Amino acid sequence: MTETAKPRIAVIGSNMVDLVTYVNRMPVRGETVEAPSFEMGHGGKGANQAVAAAKLGASVFMVTAVGDDMFADNTIKNLASLGVDTTYVRRVAGRSSGVAPIMVEPSGENSILIVKGANAELSPADVENAAEALKTCDLILLQLEVPLETVYAAIAFGKRHGVRTVLNPAPATPELDPERVRDVSFFVPNETELAILTGMPVGTDQEIGAAARSLVAKGVETVIVTLGSRGALVMSAAGVRRIDPVPVEPVDTTGAGDAFVGSFARYFAGGISLEAALARASRYAADSVTRRGTQKAYALEAQFETFCRSLDSAVR
Ligand code: RIB
Repeated sequence: MTETAKPRIAVIGSNMVDLVTYVNRMPVRGETVEAPSFEMGHGGKGANQAVAAAKLGASVFMVTAVGDDMFADNTIKNLASLGVDTTYVRRVAGRSSGVAPIMVEPSGENSILIVKGANAELSPADVENAAEALKTCDLILLQLEVPLETVYAAIAFGKRHGVRTVLNPAPATPELDPERVRDVSFFVPNETELAILTGMPVGTDQEIGAAARSLVAKGVETVIVTLGSRGALVMSAAGVRRIDPVPVEPVDTTGAGDAFVGSFARYFAGGISLEAALARASRYAADSVTRRGTQKAYALEAQFETFCRSLDSAVR
């Protein structure tokens, strides 16, 4: 693997404590079902993306908010121990930290509930408070587990100061105003999010392409649609390209999208081409689903290089 520069990345977004139950099958309404195991872990789409980039060697800081409960200190300690700068983590009195009850089925597919807690208090003032640090970044990563006004403020900040932004519009909400996200450099939905955000069908590759094109027509520079085990699709004014999938046996797909976005940011901001960065992101996300959990399933740079070498030698 070619060595790339170590970029500086900011994540303005959420953190959660994941309460993960591994089930044999999902209960139906009114039913009680026994499940074989339970694990707690650190998650949240923002924190997951920050940790993925940091584990791969980027210099990362997070603008986020924790509550004043038993989870707050552990969340800050966890981020710091994984190399994420926590200078801009704010403690919110009287709120719980974010939590996410998750169920993972034997196929590795997951269902997630989120309780935003303090994440719902992250405000445009938090973006302003971190302004000097944000100006020095190569890339700012955003998701939708914090208030939309904060996301819009961060996109406008990036535009004003010439810092590229990546918006992973997850979880999707039809309330997202397309006019206020047109200035993002990279818009990275999955198929479901693309359908919700555009109101267009996404049943076939052609429909996915048309929905992505509609966002480019609204002014978004590049749309990257993650397609799970089918790879990804990239749409820009230059046309459409496919990113090949990486076949693996999934154990837990939770946080795979975050692994993709965080690793894409690290490699693209590190100076390699869009295609090369996406190919690496696809591999990083695939590797992550072979282990349980989110942040703890993400490989360190050296482990990831070993995984890539094994893929490369398999195709020779
Ligand atoms: O994308 C996966 C994440 O979604 C989980 O870690 C959970 O916290 C929710 O935010």
